[in-house]
Amino acid sequence: VSVQRSSHGLELLLEVSRERGRLHRQIEDGVREGVRSGRLVAGTPLPSSRSLAAELGVARSVVVEAYDQLAAEGFIEVRPRALPRVAAAAAPPPAAPAKPPAAEPEPRYDLRPGAPDLALFPRADWLRSVRAALLEIPDAELDYGPPEGALQLRATLAEYLGRVRGVRCAPGALVVCHGVAQAMLVAARAVAGRRARVAVEDPGHADVRASLEPHDVDLVPVPVDDDGLQVDAIPPGVDAVLVTPAHQYPMGAVLTAERRAALVERSREEDFWILEDDYDAEHRYDRAPIGAMQGLAPDRVVSMGSVSKTLAPALRLGWMAVPDELLDAALAERASFDRGLPTLDQLALAEFIARGALDRHVRRSRRHYRRRRDALVAALPAGRTGGVAAGLHMTLALPAGADERAAQAAIRARGVAVDVLGRHRIASTGPPALLLGYGRISEAAIPPAVRALAGALED
Ligand SMILES: Cc1ncc(COP(=O)(O)O)c(C=O)c1O
Repeated sequence: VSVQRSSHGLELLLEVSRERGRLHRQIEDGVREGVRSGRLVAGTPLPSSRSLAAELGVARSVVVEAYDQLAAEGFIEVRPRALPRVAAAAAPPPAAPAKPPAAEPEPRYDLRPGAPDLALFPRADWLRSVRAALLEIPDAELDYGPPEGALQLRATLAEYLGRVRGVRCAPGALVVCHGVAQAMLVAARAVAGRRARVAVEDPGHADVRASLEPHDVDLVPVPVDDDGLQVDAIPPGVDAVLVTPAHQYPMGAVLTAERRAALVERSREEDFWILEDDYDAEHRYDRAPIGAMQGLAPDRVVSMGSVSKTLAPALRLGWMAVPDELLDAALAERASFDRGLPTLDQLALAEFIARGALDRHVRRSRRHYRRRRDALVAALPAGRTGGVAAGLHMTLALPAGADERAAQAAIRARGVAVDVLGRHRIASTGPPALLLGYGRISEAAIPPAVRALAGALED
């Protein structure tokens, strides 16, 4: 008979069977194996001999004999008026921890683009929205939510995006996603199944490309210039064109009205979709707001955005406004990823937007970023910076022929982290440049950071 039970609340996974030979040996073997495998760690209390005997249905003397033997071998400690316990010396040597990759030390000055100032996150305001969401959510909505997102958020976003970005869509045409990164993948698959041929800007965001590449999306590079994507250079036969019209990443150009119109016209004639990455349209300093392209052609443009640049990437909340013709496919693709999106966070965001907290936060952060942008432009050599009118980063031209990577390493050696333009190129060539973000650096730190950077470039 096999016995496998606990003893007086102390779980001890032990099996003994009269058919398998001497009972005390079986107890000894079981405890030794537990210690060697690390299942019984040093200090773990064992059941008293009386209770273990009762649990296993054996005579107490059997357990006492086993415990004596284990104590003699140093596996357990038997103490007067206390439960026996696994001896410290008996613990197996801890497995060598996997060596973490040698992390680069944090830079003294972080000028890498990519994140807003996380210290500006409106914690108190957000907490208010989280509390409201939690207090108001009906029990039934704590179940799996709709894969396309909570209706409350979709309704709030439809109003917000219409007001702020000129996006024209009904709540039902908005699909909530885990950021633009997922929206892009959903869109690419919705337009052409698993093997979409997508034209992308070159240079364009390397990390965005990297998130598409493992998913069988064929990327076709198209050059950009000071007017944004060169629409004439889009080759025939693409399923979709991925574009950052409000603020080209990373060069910072605005796609001109002529090019917008030309892109829409070609998309109608050649039947491709426009995937608009509206990633940081809210951050503009000295130019009028530029509406989303979606407003121009809601039947051709999938417009994607998120709160990663306005609130925090950690929220992983974004959206896509989808043309009617693509909606079923987009809903199916979004649903294929997981069992839905976090409902409480969505309701919190809906509440946050509905009471104007996002507008206030964007206005407030814009003032901070504008001051930093001004400080950076003032500290850098005139005529060398580009893409300064909007966004959270700018380009800094290097002297012709300079090696971007070498410059980046030299600057890093002085404690300043920057990005290089070349990382975002696919096939394009052009003058070398650095990308300098000002989301992660305080205004006061900009002059010393630029001095360090300039010092490295002079060497
Ligand atoms: C141009 C661009 N598009 C998309 C993304 C992805 O953003 P999300 O966090 O919304 O997935 C980023 C993130 O840095 C970005 O810079």
